[in-house]
Amino acid sequence: MPKFFVTTPIYYVNARPHIGHVYTALAADVLARWRRRRGDAVLFSTGTDENSQKNVDAAREAGQDVRAFVDAMAAEWQATFKQLNLTYDTFIRTTSAAHRRAVEAVLQRVGEAGDIYRGEYEGLYCVGCEAFYAEKDLVESRCPIHRTLPERIKEQNYFFRLGQYKAALLKQYDEQPDFVAPESARNQLRHYVTHELADVSITRQSQAWGIRLPQDPTQAVYVWIDALINYLTVAGWPDDEDKFRTFWPADLHLIGKDIVKFHGVIWPALLLSAGLPLPRRIFAHGFFTVDGQKISKSLGNAIDPLALAQEYPLDALRYYLLADIPFGNDGDFSHVRLRERYNADLANGLGNLVSRVLTMFEQFWPDFSGGAGAPPEEAARLLTSVNQHLAALAFDQALAAIWRAIAALDGTVEAAQPWRLYKEGGGEELHTVLLLLYNGLVAVNDALAPFLPTTHEALTKLLSARPLRKPAASLFARKG
Ligand code: MSP
Repeated sequence: MPKFFVTTPIYYVNARPHIGHVYTALAADVLARWRRRRGDAVLFSTGTDENSQKNVDAAREAGQDVRAFVDAMAAEWQATFKQLNLTYDTFIRTTSAAHRRAVEAVLQRVGEAGDIYRGEYEGLYCVGCEAFYAEKDLVESRCPIHRTLPERIKEQNYFFRLGQYKAALLKQYDEQPDFVAPESARNQLRHYVTHELADVSITRQSQAWGIRLPQDPTQAVYVWIDALINYLTVAGWPDDEDKFRTFWPADLHLIGKDIVKFHGVIWPALLLSAGLPLPRRIFAHGFFTVDGQKISKSLGNAIDPLALAQEYPLDALRYYLLADIPFGNDGDFSHVRLRERYNADLANGLGNLVSRVLTMFEQFWPDFSGGAGAPPEEAARLLTSVNQHLAALAFDQALAAIWRAIAALDGTVEAAQPWRLYKEGGGEELHTVLLLLYNGLVAVNDALAPFLPTTHEALTKLLSARPLRKPAASLFARKG
């Protein structure tokens, strides 16, 4: 049985999920649902990155014990993803014992490979990013992402010989051109590895919170090293050999473009050092703004996905996020645009077509009892095209193909005018047209299943009822 292992980044629990976080998980969810429908063994993992200083700071701000705080926040992330109907198979928490074992085992191996050494580190550290910055990458001495002044840190650390993996990394990018996509991310990595690659500090001396370095338990493992290893933990490494053999290497790491270097440079080098196979593909999506502005705590414009889900059906959010922004590009979340697309494509487009076709069956062919026979050629073509677009992570194009099929069915209704045929006595011509529309809806319903799961369920019920009846309520109520 083919397998498919897709991951999202694991999320810091210093704040609640916003729309940018949900976006990655949503894309992964569509792919997981798609592959499950094809009968593949799917592992879809997500989770929380809990050993970060950011979480410690947030707990302190909230006046809570760190452990109690991360427990509560992790539960909240999990509940949010459940409420959003995201069908992850594993939700990993990096404070779990299984994960600690995986981190220790990886670092043990990396140490045995001679890739860990002790040294002194001095650098500028942004806690927001949990990363060191080179002077030249700061903007007016500030972190380019958080706009905060980084801390100068000088401490005894352990280093990973990342610099030694230059040739191996470049070879990997060359030999497997889709290892990191899109092209912009791949170029960024090539440039970085060619010109800037250096050894990295993988521990923090003064941090009490976090996993201990097995070679020196006075030091905490740097949170990014800890976090990356989650992908091995969820695949069962090192304890569950069967699971690991089934699912590793990961087929796809979905990430945001801000964390490309960690995934495309440090992660493969660590795996090479530990003697483990590399993931097949890493894909970085773009960043969201909200109504044209960067999402930020200070602007208070972080969209709460649960609040949005009160206003719109979940399927409408899924449709808008995936149809409106080509995956890999930056995008803007606009309430106006969401409403426009909802009304035009869902309420008026799909919703209307379903009502129209089913009403015609009710009126013109009440004793229709059949299903299709073999799926017509257009249905197979639609599915092939959707499959191709999904394999290329072109969610917008997959949806565009489905909506072209919907428009074509609308065109058929207009051209054939079944009500006229009915007035003229019905007969075979009427039945041929209606059957074509019915099969068309079945095909559309099949193709949209991974994208709009609730709609798919409702439409499946409507299409399998006998007699066919016009729906009591439209699939999507228009929004004013
Ligand atoms: N904990 C690390 C990831 C470790 S993975 C081994 C992390 N966490 S995060 O919570 O800050 O971000 C998680 C993901 O959300 C990242 O992929 C990031 O790119 C994405 N996004 C955060 N804000 C976003 C937008 N405004 N728009 C799109 N994606 C955004 O980084």
